[in-house]
Amino acid sequence: AVQYEYIKVDKRGEKKNVGLIQLNRLKALNALCDGLVSEIGEALQEMETDTSIDAIVITGSERAFAAGADIAEMKDKSFQDCYARKFLSHWDIISKCPKPTIAAVNGFALGGGCEVAMMCDIIYAGEKAKFGQPEITLGTIPGAGGTQRLTRAIGKSKAMEMILTGEFMSAQEAEKAGLVSKVFPVEELVGEAIKLGERIGEFSQIAAAMCKEAVNMSDELPLSNGLLYEKKLFHSSFATDDKREGMTAFLEKRKPDFKDN
Ligand code: CAA
Repeated sequence: AVQYEYIKVDKRGEKKNVGLIQLNRLKALNALCDGLVSEIGEALQEMETDTSIDAIVITGSERAFAAGADIAEMKDKSFQDCYARKFLSHWDIISKCPKPTIAAVNGFALGGGCEVAMMCDIIYAGEKAKFGQPEITLGTIPGAGGTQRLTRAIGKSKAMEMILTGEFMSAQEAEKAGLVSKVFPVEELVGEAIKLGERIGEFSQIAAAMCKEAVNMSDELPLSNGLLYEKKLFHSSFATDDKREGMTAFLEKRKPDFKDN
């Protein structure tokens, strides 16, 4: 197995079909230094090619999911450095993972931490989670999707308020606003996220990937094109063995046996 410095990876669930990526840079509250984000990318690519993995959970510690991009690393960076080296562009890999991804957020999800959570398909939060985009307090702005994804997730007024004040949002508020789908007691959070991955893993993984692709396309396309995109994928699903198996099993009143084919 690959040895990582800033993360721990594992396979969880009864069938070991849920990949777990745990950010493990505790003394800096999982601040997302370059090396940490590169390792998340490597682990995701590994899990993407591993056919035994059906879904991926990304989590941090009880104190912090991630307290943002690494401020020490950014402090002396110039515009020229950022521009020439496309600073933070390697974070995009997280949002491009074709397998379902679940962020399990305990503690702080601030700045880049909130942005990484929003790159995942589903966010589950622990009761004490705090979400925020405090970049304005540092004289900058969210730079890994916060202005776009938070606005889409919770609407303009709430997103503006958070981004313009840097104030944090509690797990309970985040659930009410639709940023988070469920809230759990701190110690149950990761287990619940893994269970969610297992539930998704019971289905055809081709269908899951198509569902994810179609939902994510809703951020990119106007409605008529989005509906067309959906229809094309829906029709495509009829080419799979899993569609035949799923519908046959329903009519034969038995459990389907999906082969991801
Ligand atoms: N970068 C680097 N180091 C960080 C960090 C960050 N984002 N967040 C926390 N740390 C470090 C602290 O410097 C401290 O290190 P030392 O022990 O060496 O002093 C350690 O983690 C513990 O942090 P605190 O002592 O500050 O802990 P606290 O409990 O008093 O406060 C906190 C917790 C409110 C989360 C506070 O750490 C904080 O405000 N962190 C910064 C949050 C932030 O501004 N994030 C946005 C970053 S910008 C960004 O993300 C850009 C983007 O869009 C991609």
